[in-house]
Amino acid sequence: MFTSPWRQRVAFAVLGMILITGSVLLAIFFTPPSPPPVPPNEALYRDASLPIETRVEDLLGYMTLEEKIGQMALVEKNSLKNTKDVAAYGIGAVLSGAGGKPDDNTPQGWKNMVAEFTDAASGTRLGIPILYGTDANHGNGNVLGATLFPHLIGLGAANDPVLTERVARAIAEESAAMGIRWHFSPTFDLPMDIRWGRVYEAFSDDPMRAGTLGAAYIRGLQQAAGQGARIDVLATAKHYVGLGSMTWGTSDNDDFRIDQGVVSNDDSETLTDVYLPPYRTAIDAGILSVMAGLASWGGGDISASEYILTDVLKDELGFRGFVVSDWYGVYAISWNSYDSTVSAINAGIDMAMLPFDYKGFVSDMHKAVIRGDIPQARVDDAVRRILRAKFSMGLFDDNGASRSGLETVGSTEHRALARETVACSLVLLRNQKRTLPLSSDIRHIRVAGSAADNVGRQTGGWTVEWQGIDGNWLPGATSILAGIRAAVSMQTTVEYDLNGDFPNKDLADVGIAIVGEKPYAEGWGDNVQPRLDDIDLAAIASLQKTSKRVVVIIVSGRPLIVTDEISKWDATVAAWLPGSEGRGVADALFGASPFTGRLPLPWPRTIEQLPMTVDGQTSDGSTPLFPRGFGL
Ligand code: GLC
Repeated sequence: MFTSPWRQRVAFAVLGMILITGSVLLAIFFTPPSPPPVPPNEALYRDASLPIETRVEDLLGYMTLEEKIGQMALVEKNSLKNTKDVAAYGIGAVLSGAGGKPDDNTPQGWKNMVAEFTDAASGTRLGIPILYGTDANHGNGNVLGATLFPHLIGLGAANDPVLTERVARAIAEESAAMGIRWHFSPTFDLPMDIRWGRVYEAFSDDPMRAGTLGAAYIRGLQQAAGQGARIDVLATAKHYVGLGSMTWGTSDNDDFRIDQGVVSNDDSETLTDVYLPPYRTAIDAGILSVMAGLASWGGGDISASEYILTDVLKDELGFRGFVVSDWYGVYAISWNSYDSTVSAINAGIDMAMLPFDYKGFVSDMHKAVIRGDIPQARVDDAVRRILRAKFSMGLFDDNGASRSGLETVGSTEHRALARETVACSLVLLRNQKRTLPLSSDIRHIRVAGSAADNVGRQTGGWTVEWQGIDGNWLPGATSILAGIRAAVSMQTTVEYDLNGDFPNKDLADVGIAIVGEKPYAEGWGDNVQPRLDDIDLAAIASLQKTSKRVVVIIVSGRPLIVTDEISKWDATVAAWLPGSEGRGVADALFGASPFTGRLPLPWPRTIEQLPMTVDGQTSDGSTPLFPRGFGL
């Protein structure tokens, strides 16, 4: 084609021009934009002496859309193959879901794991620290060796705001020592139906009691003694709103019955008069994080309700913190992840909990903002709220160093507080012939029942595993039986048999049956008829044959239906889920501590009385076995 030499030269010259022009065009249009510059050291947001709002606005001004979206992602740590993505996506928060422990499940192992994520975030352009969150409602339940306090239902029975604040402060000290600065607690749910698997995570069905104790718990978590205004461990009021009032049989989770169900009385009067007051108290106590509940309200998902999340919580109540979704709640809204994300964020979710797929969330968010389906202003509002919490915690200023060393985790002092709390949480329901308190010099005691020597039952769910672990396995813990053995005198004989089988037929002075529920959490604890199982009933019957008097101690996450049996027991104590320090039960049994607990919710006579009404009455107008507030 190009036979003559000059034609060849022209052809090569033209080809060369095309190549040069093309590469110049490529360089202009396809070279990734150079990353924005690192803000100067004197950037306002880095100045701890400036007002928080000034720092928030300054930092927001530096942020790219990608960095803003990253802050709205709360990623479950097991979905992060490594910590590189924390920086790559500018992730704002990481959580350990229930059981989300490091391979080395020790306080040091936790501190190392949290530090890996924290350090990864500090390497980003803006160096925005992450929040590391976990469920620590009854102590750092995921952490082997942590002090485990009574679950909140026990704090509800103790009904002592000062004690509740002390407990929360101790839990916070143990967390902060490991670098965990965000708890998904306290719960403000108001359980109206004891068939629900989450009764024990709440304080009470009484909004006043729940609000007062919840506010005390928030103060305990957030305000470290002598630490000035900064928040030590960020609390979360959950599960907003109205959880505890779902109707049995309405769960949209096929494995559950009432958990994740439909909130029945979702009229505006009940909302205003019953469900919102505890959240108003929480806001007054300085809450900056609220978790949206996995339930339906007014015919739709709470996570997609602009009325509930924005109009009521943010506009009417003036909540200035951030709303975090619960678990997979965003994606329960619709089958389409993009539509679900748009609905949830536009409704008022500020941070999405992402147990599995953060990359999908980031991609959907970016697309939605570019398309205008999510206004940029909504993203800015969400990020402002998140940054406000982080600045309020001093996260930018204190390099996360905590005041307490790891020795505070499971410390003698905290275990003593937990033991004291156990004793205060016990409710004496029946005490015929003044059976209790027992003398520590008593000659012969027989002990039986599934919860006697089983710290898995006394700690319940949210303990190392999501569903807890049945059995006597928790290192450092004291079973109720061990507490009894430690409380009696040298001349006392204590016999124990799980089933109450005692070959020697001499009558013991007293039989103590320690019975109750195996551990469970959330909907897996939904139970159509919460009662004692046949093994425990048989153990009680056996003690009735081999002891002069029988004391029954119920270790459960909720009231159980014991109407037909309780009249045959000389004494009955509701011990709830006491946690790792079972010795506190013996303190009350033998009179070292008085029985002061009062029922935090009514104790039904029959299942037909459920659900309870919002003022603690039965649905059919009959009287419960014991009313809320009862205790001898
Ligand atoms: C769970 C619970 C919530 C908990 C969260 C993170 O599904 O509903 O209470 O805080 O997930 O573990």
